[in-house]
Amino acid sequence: MTKVYLGMSADLVHPGHINIINEAAKLGEVTVGLLNDSAIASYKRIPYMTYEQRKNVVENIKGVAAVVEQTTLDYRANLIKLKPQYVVHGDDWREGVQKKTRQQVIDTLAQWGGELVEVSYTQGISSSQLQEEIKRVGTTPNTRLSMLKRLLNVKEIVRVNEVHHGLSGLITEKTVVERNGQPVRFDAMWSSSLTDSTAKGKPDIEAVDMTSRMQSVNDIFDVTTLPLIFDADTGGRIEHFRFTVRSLERLGVSAVVIEDKTGLKRNSLFGTEVDQTQDSIENFQAKIAAGKGAQVTNDFMVISRIESLILNQGMDDALDRARAYVDAGADVIMIHSRQPQPDEIFEFCDHYHRSVSTVPLMVVPSSFNSVTEAEWVDRGVSIVTYANHMLRSAYPAMKKVAESILQHGRSLESEQDCMSIKEILELVPGDQ
Ligand code: SPV
Ligand code: MG
Repeated sequence: MTKVYLGMSADLVHPGHINIINEAAKLGEVTVGLLNDSAIASYKRIPYMTYEQRKNVVENIKGVAAVVEQTTLDYRANLIKLKPQYVVHGDDWREGVQKKTRQQVIDTLAQWGGELVEVSYTQGISSSQLQEEIKRVGTTPNTRLSMLKRLLNVKEIVRVNEVHHGLSGLITEKTVVERNGQPVRFDAMWSSSLTDSTAKGKPDIEAVDMTSRMQSVNDIFDVTTLPLIFDADTGGRIEHFRFTVRSLERLGVSAVVIEDKTGLKRNSLFGTEVDQTQDSIENFQAKIAAGKGAQVTNDFMVISRIESLILNQGMDDALDRARAYVDAGADVIMIHSRQPQPDEIFEFCDHYHRSVSTVPLMVVPSSFNSVTEAEWVDRGVSIVTYANHMLRSAYPAMKKVAESILQHGRSLESEQDCMSIKEILELVPGDQ
């Protein structure tokens, strides 16, 4: 029997997929190379269905003889193993991110006289269209909540952007750029205590209460589908933190970050310029354990943030605390620093991976902002958070326009710094 290989993600199965399977089946016995989550995440959004769910669907489609796992976007390893006579693919990969993959398939098949057969793209339906529809419909708290853990499992690094209202959420969700021929977007959102407080004209001292913080999250969730990490400052009293975890989880928040400070919390970037007290290891362990005990799902995460470097307590203290917090059940360790150079963070990462734990690491490089995501990957960091940039960029723009209006006694001169009325009317469509 002639062997035919068909690579697919099969997340949102539509008539285009059935057409391609039918065409492939005309050529011989079809083996579907089903891309696993990390193969898909390497070039596009993580799938809605898990690998097992997608496999279950594809195995039961008429014309599919077998399903094998394809662990990279690169087909070559599977092709060399199976040596199919044909590879079948839609003709929509001649341009864009998959162009190189396509050429590799052609070259590999040539080794045994195999051929690439391209089926013309089914008009009127596509996975990207369906994705847009799904985004319009929205998401459920559970689906959103579980997304962060899935991303952590399949992505080299999870890229998180700060949000403080619906509009910054929309920007974070919708912005896509091309970097080295690949689309790049944010994976998740960060509800920052600093920017959520600043947006309300209040200092970052836990003065904005949880009800108000969660209302901001609700507004953001109304118009987005990305997962969110919530900055809960110190987490408050242990007895209260349990309730915070329950409420966040019910909203669909994926993770809560608590920092090991106690008393009146001040923003970490003040460092030792203001009075800040670090919590005892034992008390903070009890808080982590209380949070972990309170969560209902398996997917919610408690991220423990270490302030030892911020408060000049030294590397050993930071590492001891990392060990203790992991023991208490922390799902992720966040290490913070206010140094403009990344040296102490790098040193922490090296020691941590060598002698502490395999629990993922998160960084918030507001000060040490010269490090690229590729370098963070090399240092074994799993989550990078741009913690305040949406608000910090909006403020100077708003101030400049306010000054211009006052100076000129009219708004004409400020127009060049504003989006047009047409643009703002069209920015958020009425059917959203
Ligand atoms: C925040 O964004 O509120 C943070 C990060 O906690 S930092 O401002 O660096 O402390
Ligand atoms: Mg904060």
